[in-house]
Parts: sequence; structure tokens; C-alpha cells
Amino acid sequence: MKAHIRTYGCQMNERDSENIAANFVERGWSITNNEDEADAIIVNTCSVREQAENKAIGKLGHLINYRNFTGKNLPVIGVTGCMAQNRGGQLVKILPGLDFVAGARKTHKVADIAEQIYRQKLTGRVPVAPVVDVSDDLTSHLNIDKHYPLARSSKVCAFVSIMQGCQMNCSYCIVPKVRGPMRSRPTADIVAEVRALVDSGVKEVTLLGQVVNAFGIERRAPGKVSEFVDLLERLNAIEGLQRIRFTSPHPSFFKDDLIEAYGRLEKLCQYVHLPLQSGSNSILRAMNRPYRAEDFLRIAERLREKVADMSISTDVIVGYPGETPEDFRQTVDVFKQAAFDMAFIFKYSPREGTKSAQQPDDVPESIKDQRNKILLEILGEQSMRFHENMIGRTFDVLVEDRAKRGQDMFMGRTRNHRKCIFKADESYIAKTVNVKINSATVTALSAEIVG
Ligand code: 5AD
Ligand code: SF4
Repeated sequence: MKAHIRTYGCQMNERDSENIAANFVERGWSITNNEDEADAIIVNTCSVREQAENKAIGKLGHLINYRNFTGKNLPVIGVTGCMAQNRGGQLVKILPGLDFVAGARKTHKVADIAEQIYRQKLTGRVPVAPVVDVSDDLTSHLNIDKHYPLARSSKVCAFVSIMQGCQMNCSYCIVPKVRGPMRSRPTADIVAEVRALVDSGVKEVTLLGQVVNAFGIERRAPGKVSEFVDLLERLNAIEGLQRIRFTSPHPSFFKDDLIEAYGRLEKLCQYVHLPLQSGSNSILRAMNRPYRAEDFLRIAERLREKVADMSISTDVIVGYPGETPEDFRQTVDVFKQAAFDMAFIFKYSPREGTKSAQQPDDVPESIKDQRNKILLEILGEQSMRFHENMIGRTFDVLVEDRAKRGQDMFMGRTRNHRKCIFKADESYIAKTVNVKINSATVTALSAEIVG
């Protein structure tokens, strides 16, 4: 039996899909990239913006139509992730033929559900009633430690989910509704998982969570040190592990002890993705983001003081309800002052069930487009400047895999997460090499190995 898994959305979803794949493999299934030969197709979905939901619904409709066209009752077609949680049973109504809906807190059950339906369908007893499971599961975070790398280019880098859920309740965000409250995994489980990954050849881990630096906060005694920094220290001590990254932290939990960890913990890489969302304090307040633009800039400044070549990327939403030209001007200012070298700019999209969806979506689409374009242009200049500053210098790069293009060309990242392309051979994979940067584009650096 073969399963095909298609993933939309964030790295948490990519990681959940790896766990789903591992559950299939444990049951004796194999994983295929080719949906035409699959016995089960799983679509792992995102709800953060309306467009993401529409894309996944379109894909599911297409898969079901194609199966109808072939006249067969296989493959099993199921949906999981945030949209599955958000829309639940409604999906089997708008997508007749869909075999199951398993919510974002049920991803660890997906292989089980898919296999049961597969067996029922094999016996020919059709139609099989669709299964909908979007019930709460507050222990789902204890079942997310299995690995089967899917989309990532290499076996050298691994994602590790350290928590699930979020309770920050940013006014625009659907995540707390679909993923539930914050649940942090036990530190010892995470350390054991990373040790096992390192034993299997992994050199770099990226810790994942919706508010990753609030790890453990729901169980921490007041006044105790941050469990997140404690976790970083424990991981830093694992022999054979070379690099530690994490995403996404929240500015409100980026305290001095975390800033101090940079430089002190030698495996912690000098790259951070720190979502700003807006540079206007009144918009931040409306968004229920409990920090001010100046607090954000102080974190960025201190990180830059602490470590050389610190790379900082961000998320920004343009066109939030009531965003005036002055609010946007402040966002542009902060965007420049923080000197982001990478960013995701999103046009505000109202999500049903969130607080801001009760307000009119009053910034016209054309203005959202314009603001989006302005930030993208500034970003292009800032990324290029960051890259140009690296030309002629030497950096250590962890060689991940072959590059997408070019014979004998390989890909690896610097500690500050810049993508380098250089000539090498297979024997370099998983090794750390020194490369000299020769030239740059906005997205990648062209380099040569010098040691
Ligand atoms: N509209 C636009 N962007 C959003 N994000 C979250 N919710 C919305 C929304 N309703 C963005 C935020 C977040 C990123 C993952 O998606 O910037 O950091
Ligand atoms: Fe959404 Fe805010 Fe939680 Fe991030 S911190 S997942 S934006 S509610």
C-alpha cells in the first residue's frame, strides 16, 4: 500500500506530515510522491488565510473528480490540518466523496483512520460512510516524535515540534481556534528525540512551535528560569549536534536570558524569524500583540550587538482594519530600522471566528497591494545589501544536498541561514565546510569551498 501526502502551510504542518508518513510506514505502507499510484491521499491543510483554504478545497475537489472519472473507489482521500479542524463535517457536505476529515489535533490518528477506510473499501462494501474526527485531544503533543523526512531537501536537517497550540489570541489569527491551547512536550522527550536524530546522522535541528519561545510557560512556576532557554542549553550539550534553530518566537517572550543565550550557546545559529506584524503601536494594540515597536527594535538591536552577521526575518500584515497611511509609514520605518533581510508580507484576510473579523475589512485591496509592493521593494534592497556585505568573506556552511540546478552543484546554508550554492561532490553531504562567497543575488549566494 502506498500513501501520498500533500502539505500546505507552515513548517508545523510539514512536520506533522512527516509524523503522519512515519505512522504509515510503521503500518507497512510506503510513501509515494506520485499521487496516481497512491492507495491513500492525505491533504494536510492551512487556514491562516482564505486563499490557503480555497487552494486545498480546489485540490481535494480535483482528486475526488478524478477518482469518480476512473470509476474506482480507491484511493482513500482524506483531509487533515487546520482547515479540517476549522470546517469539520461541513467539508464532507461540500466535497461529496471525501473519505475522512481528521482535525489538526488528530494528525497522529490519520494513518490509522486511512488504513481502516482502505480495508473497508477493499472488501467492496461501498459506499463507506465518511469519518469526521475533529474532537479535542489535549494529549496530541505527546504523539509527534516520529520522523520520515518528506519535503525537506536533506536528512541532515530535521524539524522537531516542541509544543502545539497557541493562546496568544492575536485578533486576526485563527490558530488558537483550530490548534487549541498551548501544550508543551516534556523536555526529556525532546532531548531524547534530538539525540536519536543525531544518532541517525542529523546535524541541525529546527525547533518548532507557534510561540516557540514560550515553551513550558503553562507549567512553569513563577520566577523560575525560562524552560525554553533551559531546553536550548540541554540541546547545546548533545554531542554530534552542530546547529540549533527555532521558529517562530514571539517578541513578548524574547527576554534577556534568550538574548544572552546567543554567543554563549555555540550551536545556536545567528538567525531569528521574529514576527513584527506591524510597526504601528496602535495597530499592534488592536491586534492584541502585547509589545510596542520600540520593544521590538530593542530586541533586534541587542541581538545584532551580541552576534556578528545576525540575520533577522519577519512577518508583516498589511491592510489590517483601520490601518491608516500613517500606521503604514510607521511599519515602513520599523522595517527599515530593523533591517530585515528576509520577510513574509501578508495582505490581511479576515478569518471567521476571529476578533478582527467582526470589524469591517476596510482597507481596499488596491491599497493592500500597494503597501505589499512597497515593503517587498524595500525588502529586496535590504536582502541584497545583506548579501553584498558577505561577498569576499568566508563562512561555515553545512552541506545539505545537491542544488536544484547545475551539475556537481551543491547546496548548504550559513549559520545565519543564507543559501549558498557551490561546487562539491556527494562525499561533502553532512559535512561542514568553509566557503568563500563570490557573488550574490537576492535569494542565494554563489560560493566556493576553501577548506
Ligand atoms: N491575514 C493575513 N495574514 C495573517 N497571518 C495570520 N493570520 C492572518 C490573517 N488573518 C500571518 C501572520 C503570521 C503568519 C503565519 O501569517 O503574519 O505571523
Ligand atoms: Fe496566531 Fe498570534 Fe498565536 Fe502566532 S502568536 S499563532 S499569530 S495567535
